[in-house]
Amino acid sequence: MATVTYEKATRIYPGADKPAVDQLDIAIEDGEFLVLVGPSGCGKSTSLRMLAGLEDVNGGSIRIGDRDVTHLPPKDRDIAMVFQNYALYPHMTVADNMGFALKIAGVPKAEIRQKVEDAARILDLTEYLGRKPKALSGGQRQRVAMGRAIVREPQVFLMDEPLSNLDAKLRVQTRTQIAGLQRRLGITTVYVTHDQVEAMTMGDRVAVLKDGLLQQIDSPRNMYDRPANLFVAGFIGSPAMNLVEVPITDGGVKFGNSVVPVSREALGAAADKGDRTVTVGVRPEHFDVVERTGDQSASLSKDAPAGLAVTVNVVEELGADGYVYGTAEVGGEQKDLVVRVGGRNVPDKGSVLHVVPRPGELHVFSTSSGERLSD
Ligand SMILES: Nc1ncnc2c1ncn2[C@@H]1O[C@H](COP(=O)(O)OP(=O)(O)O)[C@@H](O)[C@H]1O
Ligand SMILES: [Mg+2]
Repeated sequence: MATVTYEKATRIYPGADKPAVDQLDIAIEDGEFLVLVGPSGCGKSTSLRMLAGLEDVNGGSIRIGDRDVTHLPPKDRDIAMVFQNYALYPHMTVADNMGFALKIAGVPKAEIRQKVEDAARILDLTEYLGRKPKALSGGQRQRVAMGRAIVREPQVFLMDEPLSNLDAKLRVQTRTQIAGLQRRLGITTVYVTHDQVEAMTMGDRVAVLKDGLLQQIDSPRNMYDRPANLFVAGFIGSPAMNLVEVPITDGGVKFGNSVVPVSREALGAAADKGDRTVTVGVRPEHFDVVERTGDQSASLSKDAPAGLAVTVNVVEELGADGYVYGTAEVGGEQKDLVVRVGGRNVPDKGSVLHVVPRPGELHVFSTSSGERLSD
């Protein structure tokens, strides 16, 4: 087992005008499950391949434990990689596929057999050891690919979107299995996915990348509760956090007919940048519905209720709760919003909800730089 350290690690592909991975700094603990997540093209695979030795490192360094592996060939790094397309040898049995790397390394036959059988037991593959890959389901092939990595007992596991070829249900099952297996084996693991739900459910910590730049590295809980910038705020969480640009007023921000208090520090930081607005973020579950009205005109005839008037367009009923997809007028513009409501009390399409963000659950970001201003 070992730590993994990226230190200002940079990859510039030949002919590219900017780095695919730009001065990446990550310190992964011994036995940790770290997930690299971000949209397609953000540099996840490149980061992983740099650690594997499959991609040159053009700046900075990478260490496994206290060994500098920056320029070592892949075979000397003591890592095992699981790819998206399992890359099994079609003409070999499951047992031979799993033991192949050991055979190449000259490990005695009896020892290979023992290790393959042990791994097969862990992965529930014992009865398939004599089969060829084409006679296996997608999930079983994926487990063979895992088995091939496990038998090598590497210092580090690297996995690049290993679940993306599985159907949705199997993906959920297998992600629990992989996370459980990793915890049992205790082998330091770097896992790449574009799926934020996978990242949040599997990782001890999650590192979010965008355009080759690390945005935030944190526990799933902290990532959700305190996203470091607008990108992370919008990327982590489903349905996504509502992000609205609102004017700064005395002591807070104007949210429809209400003023929501915001810390003096956050407003001061925005003012220092010369901003007259901030972008506030509210998760769908953090709105309080203060009033419901039949339709917009009815609410306008009386005293205007508190909060923001959201006209209900679509209601997604999920049983335990429901998501209201609606529109509200914010700063003279129509803005789409998502509000979570109780599953047994969903509003009608066309009705109006008056919502205010729950105190203390408001995220405040700089409109100009995108960085987080609230604590
Ligand atoms: N072999 C390559 N040659 C040139 N550019 C590449 C190569 N591989 C990836 N890239 C570019 O580097 C960036 C990061 O790619 P990649 O690491 O594959 O992203 P991800 O895995 O997050 O989707 C992308 O802009 C991609 O087009
Ligand atoms: Mg990739």
